[in-house]
Amino acid sequence: AQVDKAGHRHFMAKEIAEQPSRLTSALDHYLTEDGTIRLPAPGIDFTDVDRLTLVACGTASYACLVAKYWFEQLAGLPVDVDVASEFRYREPPIPPRTVALFVSQSGETADTLAALRYCRDKAQSIVSVVNVSESSIARESDLALPILAGPEIGVASTKAFSCQLLVLAVLAVEAARQRGKLDDNALADRIAALRALPGLVNHSLGTSDETGRIAAQLAEARDILFLGRGRMYPLALEGALKLKEISYIHAEAYASGELKHGPIALVDKSVPVIVMAPHDELFDKTVSNMQEVMARGGQVLLITDREGARVAGHGVWETLVLPDVAPLWAPILYAVPAQLLAYHTAIAKGTDVDQPRNLAKSVTVE
Ligand code: G6P
Repeated sequence: AQVDKAGHRHFMAKEIAEQPSRLTSALDHYLTEDGTIRLPAPGIDFTDVDRLTLVACGTASYACLVAKYWFEQLAGLPVDVDVASEFRYREPPIPPRTVALFVSQSGETADTLAALRYCRDKAQSIVSVVNVSESSIARESDLALPILAGPEIGVASTKAFSCQLLVLAVLAVEAARQRGKLDDNALADRIAALRALPGLVNHSLGTSDETGRIAAQLAEARDILFLGRGRMYPLALEGALKLKEISYIHAEAYASGELKHGPIALVDKSVPVIVMAPHDELFDKTVSNMQEVMARGGQVLLITDREGARVAGHGVWETLVLPDVAPLWAPILYAVPAQLLAYHTAIAKGTDVDQPRNLAKSVTVE
């Protein structure tokens, strides 16, 4: 079927707006009515696994980095994350009882496919998280998990990222359950919090106009920094990548705690600093990093929730307030402002949102 913009100005806008329904499709696919997790055969026996290797490129690699926090914290399962172009040539040893998991929207990215084949040649068990079910990566996997995002046309990945995260979240919960790390109540809580996400994402889409107003000012900047801690660090990376891809503004992301080890040297009043920080267990630490930025004249955009804005919103340049979300799943919700900021900044700059210069949707050559 022909994919059209369904009344939106760009495919990217349409794909951002579709996220509540696409996340719902993925939830319906992986969760049963009675709240248990359903994986396609042959499933994964996580009691038989000591380590996960997650490999991808671009936005999908940031989904992997978020998943590392989930698998390690929830399931006590150590995770290595690598970009495929590095993994494939490093000749990484493959320890026993390891599962290699590849994440790819297209399922055709050359480096990711080569990394998969490297693992397959070493007789490793291969799982993939893909959007295109007929793709090479899906076909060459022992288990291919669809993300059900539907066709993604905009070069900058949006709904595929949130759906990748969702499927990885389900997998991490399943791993925790199998490994005896979650009792029935905790399991039900985690799943209920996943089920709440489409509604929260929908609510966050309502910040689009406000984001547009802020983006009009970001569009003037030459450099922008993104900061996040813990599971929000990969979101900072994704926010910076989105912005670079479509607005061509130089953006860098750092783990908040690394600020003092270099990037703070860049901070002055001409460098907006975007801080992604729900009011979670690491919030205070992030706020103290944020204050170091403000003490040097940095203009902070704080993306947080109501409590975060109440505690730390004074004196910042701007705040964007998102609904409360289970801290564990906050990365899925905070993907929305990352996308909207990039989108509106690109609009303000007049760039080609859906077809940014020099980039391809699917990189099938090395
Ligand atoms: C290209 C796209 C990115 C994407 C990356 C990985 O660079 O422009 O948006 O994240 O490839 O693509 P994949 O299809 O493997 O997820």
